[in-house]
Amino acid sequence: MAKKRISLTQYLIEQQRQHGRIPAQLRLLIEVVARACKRISIGVNKGALGDVLGSAETENVQGEMQKKLDIIANEVLIEANEWGGHLAAMASEEMEGIYVVPNRFPQGEYLLLFDPLDGSSNIDVNVSIGTIFSVLKKTGNDEGVSESDFLQPGLQQAVAGYCVYGPQTMLVLTVGNGVAMFTLDREEGSWVLTHDGVQIPADTREFAINMSNLRHWAPPVRRYIDECLAGRDGPRGKDFNMRWIASMVADVHRILTRGGVFMYPWDRREPQKAGKLRLMYEANPMSFIVEQAGGAATNGRQRILELQPTTLHERVSVMLGSKNEVQRLSAYHAEAD
Ligand code: AHG
Ligand code: MN
Ligand code: MN
Repeated sequence: MAKKRISLTQYLIEQQRQHGRIPAQLRLLIEVVARACKRISIGVNKGALGDVLGSAETENVQGEMQKKLDIIANEVLIEANEWGGHLAAMASEEMEGIYVVPNRFPQGEYLLLFDPLDGSSNIDVNVSIGTIFSVLKKTGNDEGVSESDFLQPGLQQAVAGYCVYGPQTMLVLTVGNGVAMFTLDREEGSWVLTHDGVQIPADTREFAINMSNLRHWAPPVRRYIDECLAGRDGPRGKDFNMRWIASMVADVHRILTRGGVFMYPWDRREPQKAGKLRLMYEANPMSFIVEQAGGAATNGRQRILELQPTTLHERVSVMLGSKNEVQRLSAYHAEAD
């Protein structure tokens, strides 16, 4: 007999029935984001045939050159989400200000944040990329919505997820009750539950960091990596392997699948910046997912999910993954202080 397949819709309805976690508006939101990711996935797959590769010759608010797909993915997510009545506003890595739902549509109570296309440097070389999203609830009863409504610590997230466009397209989701993974069945056009209760092993022999920045790192990070590199003869007494995909989505996906630690720490290249990655669109959603899978996430000194954001596009130093390694990194920072 064929194995019974659980769709994303069924998963969400059962989460609501059993745990009361997903009110109808939130379910609609998740399904709409999932549908938008399906569209992005189709575009990604077409590549040169769909004229989606290459640069858009424009700069975003972070001062980074935008790729065509950064803009396409951003538009797909906005168009899909603006009319359903589930959102008050959206914020994106690719937009300077927030996008308030136009008043021709009903306003909902949720706020959606996204990195529409993560790993942009991989687009043109046919390597895995992704979409990351985070959902907050608008607090307070005041009419209207402003940027300050978004400035909530990551612990307040109702939902976080990402979609990885790799050899398979997969949607990874937490509604605060563990982590589930869905694989896109292209023939059926549906998301099928393929992993539930994902757990990151507490120990690992694998780290992910851009080693080309080694000379710029702070001493605690340098110490951690030096000790890994010393292998079996060093203080760790074991050999380590290294991976760096340059798509946070793909690196985190590997860590959720087989453990590891991912770092994009502060470094001396631009010392006034707290890090490269963005708190609201990358670090918070990924930290929520990683913690829900039994891992940990820190900026070296504080748990990422407890950080109080001060601006929409703020950056943060990120170390996440296998719990014991993240704890070790925190200890090295505390010792250095
Ligand atoms: P984005 O494409 O959204 O700007 O994010 C890229 C991020 C992240 O996905 C990845 O881990 C990191 O930048 C790669 O940076 P380097 O090119 O400096 O290694
Ligand atoms: Mn990104
Ligand atoms: Mn991006």
